[in-house]
Amino acid sequence: LTNGLGVTPPMGWNSWNHFSCNIDEKMIKETADALVTTGLSKLGYKYVNIDDCWAEISRDSKGSLVPKKSTFPSGIKALADYVHSKGLKLGIYSDAGYFTCSKTMPGSLGYEEHDAKTFAEWGIDYLKYDNCNNDGSKPTVRYPVMTRALMKSGRPIFHSLCEWGDMHPALWGSPVGNSWRTTNDIKDTWLSMISIADMNEVYAEHARPGGWNDPDMLEVGNGGMTKEEYIVHFSIWAISKAPLLLGCDIRNMTKETVEIVANKEVIAINQEKESSCRSTRCQAKKVRMEGDLEVWAGPLSGYRVALLLLNRGPSRTLITALWDDIEIPANSIVEARDLWQHKTLKQKFVGNLTATVDSHACKLYILKQSNLLPEIHKERVN
Ligand code: DGJ
Repeated sequence: LTNGLGVTPPMGWNSWNHFSCNIDEKMIKETADALVTTGLSKLGYKYVNIDDCWAEISRDSKGSLVPKKSTFPSGIKALADYVHSKGLKLGIYSDAGYFTCSKTMPGSLGYEEHDAKTFAEWGIDYLKYDNCNNDGSKPTVRYPVMTRALMKSGRPIFHSLCEWGDMHPALWGSPVGNSWRTTNDIKDTWLSMISIADMNEVYAEHARPGGWNDPDMLEVGNGGMTKEEYIVHFSIWAISKAPLLLGCDIRNMTKETVEIVANKEVIAINQEKESSCRSTRCQAKKVRMEGDLEVWAGPLSGYRVALLLLNRGPSRTLITALWDDIEIPANSIVEARDLWQHKTLKQKFVGNLTATVDSHACKLYILKQSNLLPEIHKERVN
């Protein structure tokens, strides 16, 4: 969507994965505080996104959505002011139907302009727009109505389409939203996470600055996967240019969780500007699959490549990436930086790279050709 937003995938936090409907203004404020004190906001995690269940079941006499009095007594505008005072942005949630999925609050169908105006007045920066309890008409009809309403609202608001991928929003989302869900809801398990990664990968060609594929929010830190599995989760989301929306309790993160989500080198891949899109592709793809072993690769600026070696199987094994598969000339001398070890490997590689990868684990590298001619290199960087 050409509203100037989502030049890189959005980063922040959303309440749903950890708290579902158990949300209130105190917790949201504490989360904003924690994003700052942990240093995560400085790394780019700016959006504080309230999900379902924030409003009363009925609109007021003017037809406006009413923040739930028992949980958001100060109202959303006050919350937006607070979040903005911390240098962060506030996101909210509605639904392209009569009620949201929880059925505890109204949706925006038929009230698009009214609600978009309200959101803009409150100082909202991001709208996640769900698809429950609608009138049965096509999302391609209902979603653009909110797009137009947001564009008219007078405030730049990131538009996140939450249609769950059923009608392939990757194929029509670009003029409608800044991101679109490609899958159903993620669960905090290895199988759910990895199958969602697979579903999202299919649409790699459609991710562009201004409009990204969204394989749903992160589960890192919620406890259902091992550390290595969460590293796979975060690595794939990063190289897939997915929104990096944390879904854990930011106020109570373990050292291990922070170590994963605060990995600057991995975040940098996700947040590289347009220059990293090559041959009209920004998002990483699978370039080789052999049983449980996979090689994923994505373009980076300066003709570097993000390389992921993934072991989905039950035992430790060797995985090889071939230059042939990842658009590096066969005779190139390549330097590899391991982004989880934070080490540039001493060995130089020609033709391929092989590493040992544990079960349900991955290796993530940035490959850099060290024999590019300086002038070619310069031209390619520009
Ligand atoms: C379905 C969405 O996919 C979830 O992310 C969450 O927003 C829930 N609805 C809320 O009811």
